[in-house]
Amino acid sequence: MRRQHRTTGAILASMLLCSAFAARECTAAPADDDIVARGKALTIAGDCASCHTADPAKPFAGGKRIDTPFGAVFSPNLTPDRDTGIGGWSDDDFLRALRMGVSPNGAHYYPAFPYPSFTKLIRNDILAIRAYLATLAPVSNKAPPPELRWPLNYRVLMRGWNALFFTPGIIQPDQSRTAEWNRGRYLVEALAHCGACHTPKNAFGADRRDQALSGSMVQGMFAPRLDGAARSGLKSWSAGDIAEYLQSGRNGHSHAGPLMSEVVVNSTSKMSDADVHAIAVYLKSLPAGAPEPAVTPPSPAQMSNGERLYRGACVACHELDGSGAPRIYPPLPGNTNLQSANPASTLRIILDGAQTLTTPRAPNAGSMPAYPKLTDQEVADVATYIRNSWGNAAPAVTADEVAKARTAK
Ligand code: HEC
Ligand code: HEC
Ligand code: HEC
Repeated sequence: MRRQHRTTGAILASMLLCSAFAARECTAAPADDDIVARGKALTIAGDCASCHTADPAKPFAGGKRIDTPFGAVFSPNLTPDRDTGIGGWSDDDFLRALRMGVSPNGAHYYPAFPYPSFTKLIRNDILAIRAYLATLAPVSNKAPPPELRWPLNYRVLMRGWNALFFTPGIIQPDQSRTAEWNRGRYLVEALAHCGACHTPKNAFGADRRDQALSGSMVQGMFAPRLDGAARSGLKSWSAGDIAEYLQSGRNGHSHAGPLMSEVVVNSTSKMSDADVHAIAVYLKSLPAGAPEPAVTPPSPAQMSNGERLYRGACVACHELDGSGAPRIYPPLPGNTNLQSANPASTLRIILDGAQTLTTPRAPNAGSMPAYPKLTDQEVADVATYIRNSWGNAAPAVTADEVAKARTAK
């Protein structure tokens, strides 16, 4: 059942009244503007636009296809259109959707909507997001129905999923930590839902909570571990390095590739300096996590073939010693993403190439060419070479893995 909304309506009504009266009579107005401005900042930190925008000319109007291992789901319209958007929702409807993953008519959402993270948001933040969304221009747009494989096309199954894997409720602040650390945890675990990509999933697509932020496959890429692991985690990055990466999509260690770029452009580069720094402080406090796999040195034949290919195709930008040119050509020695146990992101960039993302803080463009003509074995050899030179160590890549990466997407 769609119910009339009250609180947001009241806020909007008072805003209208305020513009009609002298400022003196209008004591509520600044607070309401504040709520909308705060809601906008929270909506950016929650990256709602990345998933809920299919056509850039119609922000938040939904209809974007979200691929999951179980099939595709389409994001709904979050504009205040009464028929196809959420204009007819009450505040309670909105709270229930974000905190319980349940729609106003009682249907269960799929976790492609990160409600398992949003359930940790405090009530005032959810209502501020709602107040901001209510100020958008209404757009009529109905999302297509999900294309999920049987039996997941039955939403009622999500009841069982929730019973097994979903814990509703906010995060209690840890009083033994600083306010900044608690803010960072709130952003990482709740609003910015970093674990949606960086936390490994079980066979049912739910977070493996005992392995939080330890790295996961997502849409053909590997989202690296964000814990304190020495080679493939963030041990060698300072809090300042993490903040720079989140604000500009690159730093002296690495560049953000395809999926992370979207997060940087739509969300982290627009967060306040304080929030980005809080995220960095929280990530730097994470323990080393599970031990990194022991690496058997690759065969000398694979290494020498890899070196030959690297000297032929890659040195022009990355240099013979891999040092590149920080923030232009990412350095390969000590590169954490490159040394991830799972080579998927490295294979993607060699096969597809990449355009360096530009942000106000790092406006210069650059590009990495694609190498689709290298054979599977050649891509495996050059990847293995850069993963095991200049002090790097990571499991050798096989031609089979490259063949799979070519078709995965
Ligand atoms: C990773 C992608 C993703 C992100 C990020 C995301 N959503 Fe969604 N959202 C979805 C999908 C997909 C659905 C539909 C799920 C389904 O059909 O079961 C959805 C559903 C919803 C719904 C239910 C709408 C309806 O008409 O039933 C609301 C409300 C919502 N999202 C709000 C938000 C807000 C607010 C944010 C940011 C704080 C956000 N979403 C971020 C993917 C996302
Ligand atoms: C949509 C999926 C997605 C989300 C959400 C996401 N990431 Fe990422 N992230 C990735 C992928 C994929 C990469 C690997 C990028 C590459 O290959 O260049 C990455 C890379 C990174 C890196 C670089 C790690 C390294 O070793 O090079 C950091 C740091 C990072 N993400 C932090 C975050 C934080 C903090 C959040 C939440 C604010 C977040 N990510 C949310 C997908 C995601
Ligand atoms: C024309 C210059 C150029 C050449 C040639 C080149 N690259 Fe790159 N490479 C780049 C740029 C620029 C980036 C950063 C792309 C981005 O911002 O997403 C990059 C990124 C990478 C990354 C990702 C590093 C990270 O931090 O995640 C790897 C791995 C890589 N290149 C390997 C190679 C290999 C292997 C070759 C040869 C087969 C090669 N590159 C050839 C310019 C080049």
